[in-house]
Amino acid sequence: MQVLIVGSGGREHALAWGVSRSPRLGKLYAYPGNAGIAQIAEIPPLPGDEIGTLADFAKGAGIDLTIVGPEVPLDHGIVDEFRRRDLVIFGPTKDAARLETSKAFAKELMIASGVPTAEYGVFDDFNAAWRYASNHRLPLVVKADGLAGGKGALICETPAKLEKALNAMLHKGTFGRAGSTVVIEEFMEGEEASLFVLADGNGGTTILGSAQDYKRVGEGDTGPNTGGMGACSPLSSLGAAAVDGVMETIVHPVLKAVAEAGHPYTGMLYVGLMLTKDGPKVVEFNCRFGDPESQVIIPRIADDLLMLLYASATGYLPVDRVNLTAKNAVCVIMASGGYPGNYETGKPITGIGEDDFASVVFHAGTTLKEGQLVTNGGRVLGVTGMGATVRAATFNAYRRAESIHFEDAYLRTDIAWRELERLNGDKTENGKKKRRR
Ligand code: AMP
Ligand code: GLY
Repeated sequence: MQVLIVGSGGREHALAWGVSRSPRLGKLYAYPGNAGIAQIAEIPPLPGDEIGTLADFAKGAGIDLTIVGPEVPLDHGIVDEFRRRDLVIFGPTKDAARLETSKAFAKELMIASGVPTAEYGVFDDFNAAWRYASNHRLPLVVKADGLAGGKGALICETPAKLEKALNAMLHKGTFGRAGSTVVIEEFMEGEEASLFVLADGNGGTTILGSAQDYKRVGEGDTGPNTGGMGACSPLSSLGAAAVDGVMETIVHPVLKAVAEAGHPYTGMLYVGLMLTKDGPKVVEFNCRFGDPESQVIIPRIADDLLMLLYASATGYLPVDRVNLTAKNAVCVIMASGGYPGNYETGKPITGIGEDDFASVVFHAGTTLKEGQLVTNGGRVLGVTGMGATVRAATFNAYRRAESIHFEDAYLRTDIAWRELERLNGDKTENGKKKRRR
């Protein structure tokens, strides 16, 4: 099979890595790609990543399956356009992707199908929003309805913060059109967890696994949010019985509701959950693989990832859960110093070495400059360690990361601390302390 991967981050490198292990893969292309992806895929010299350009390329190169990494091309209708041209593509249509691209749509669908989620209201008028908020207990979460690059949810503990958040979205247009409508939500207490499920549009699903990302930039989950500083999979807080429960009370009802609305959902359904004392509730849906969660989900899959993605795209998923290598995986992101604020790029990267059974390095913001591998973004590399236990996986990730160097490299030293703490049953260890070895 000839395959094209769309995207340029760590997630797309993980997808390329997973797909390249399939015996059915013929030639792998990726666009725009990065320096790591270029080691296993050809990056065609296209003039840009417009949907029409990619579709023309896919037609011309005889691509059998296109795999879309990020949400933006899905929101722009890449799946609809490829299908119009009889090209097979992995991902939901623009309308089905509204589960991620419109929070108001997702909430309405959840409430209508009885899926557990936070109580909410939708507003485009400041006074109406304020009235609603005044009748509800703080903290409340104010969210931009549309895509906001992961920055559109503001937790408001005080009336002043609430006023600022509503002002920013509804009056100042801080989030552009995405924030011209807001969802105000009850704050859910608990631990976050994610479940990754493939859907084929005909009621078939395949569970890939659970994961947890570490969003904050600082040790002990402090400081501003980032795209994700690390992740681990699986989660002991989302065991097999809990996963079955989430499939029954959340995934199947939502897929059924989207299909009944006329938009059968194909592709990845990323279920963001809050594990509350009343059980798992939905925080959000995403219509694509997570980043950096892909870098821990994909290395654990023992089955043929290419065939699974093809089956999702063509309407027949043959198994309801994948076989796993039974390993734990932990991914540590190496970022440019200053991220998620300002940072410099173009720093030479050394010491990546070779992947083996214990660790693999996924490139995110990297490029080649005159033959030298250099940094080219905020999140530079995702170093994934695998192991029979979460402690072993964590050890392997950090051991590999220690050998990699670039100027001002930054990483959190406590990735997977929640999982380690839970497994230790040791409440004295917290994220602020150094990871144990
Ligand atoms: P979202 O944009 O919906 O993914 O929200 C981003 C982040 O905000 C989530 O990953 C949570 O950490 C937090 N969050 C969002 N909604 C809630 C909620 N209702 N209760 C508590 N935390 C939330
Ligand atoms: N790591 C969060 C996301 O991919 O949305």
